[in-house]
Amino acid sequence: MKQKKISPSLLSADFVNLERDIKMLEKGGAHLLHIDVMDGHFVPNITIGPPVVKAIKKVATIPLDVHLMIENPGQYVDDFIKAGADYLTIHVEAAPHLHRVLQSIKASGIKAGVSLNPHTPISSIENVLDVLDMVLIMSVNPGFGGQSFIPQALDKIKALKLMLKENNAEHIEIEIDGGVKLDNIKEVADSGVDIFVSGSGIFKAEDPPAMIQKMIQKIS
Ligand code: DX5
Ligand code: ZN
Repeated sequence: MKQKKISPSLLSADFVNLERDIKMLEKGGAHLLHIDVMDGHFVPNITIGPPVVKAIKKVATIPLDVHLMIENPGQYVDDFIKAGADYLTIHVEAAPHLHRVLQSIKASGIKAGVSLNPHTPISSIENVLDVLDMVLIMSVNPGFGGQSFIPQALDKIKALKLMLKENNAEHIEIEIDGGVKLDNIKEVADSGVDIFVSGSGIFKAEDPPAMIQKMIQKIS
């Protein structure tokens, strides 16, 4: 069985004190650091780019889980690989040459991920399973932290699990992103998720490291 992992989203961190917040998440036992890259085109918000990822890489001791919510991801994947991404995820809706871009991520030796917006069917990735290490199911519409979990994501996860099984691709990890909190994480885990992104659910807690520990207990 795959190890279940918590990937706190830095989108809810204090950007003036990123190093302090990263140390805090590591102290809590976070397995990955989720970094949301937004370009103001694919999603309405703009966040961070490769220089900040590179700076994070210098202080982080856990792997970087970089989520690209950008148009034309193929043009930028090399920059994020060089900056230190350990998982690099692109959106299926943004990549007409999805297989090629995933192939190039994988060839660099890091983990290749693909993300699906809430309206995008899992059949859209059926023909790229050979170049995938991870599938990220969005449980909110991408662009902002602090939104409510879209419950249909659970059925999608179950269908995806089945699809991976039928294609002998159960090594591919399943990640969920958006609206995951202590009160729904167990239900999400039961649907078959391996990696749990949580931003406001962790950062809005009084004691974020203790919150990570509580989440780990719920999914174990
Ligand atoms: C949304 C981002 C998420 C976001 C999650 O577009 O991809 O990673 O930070 O934040 P919460 O957990 O607050 O929904
Ligand atoms: Zn994200």
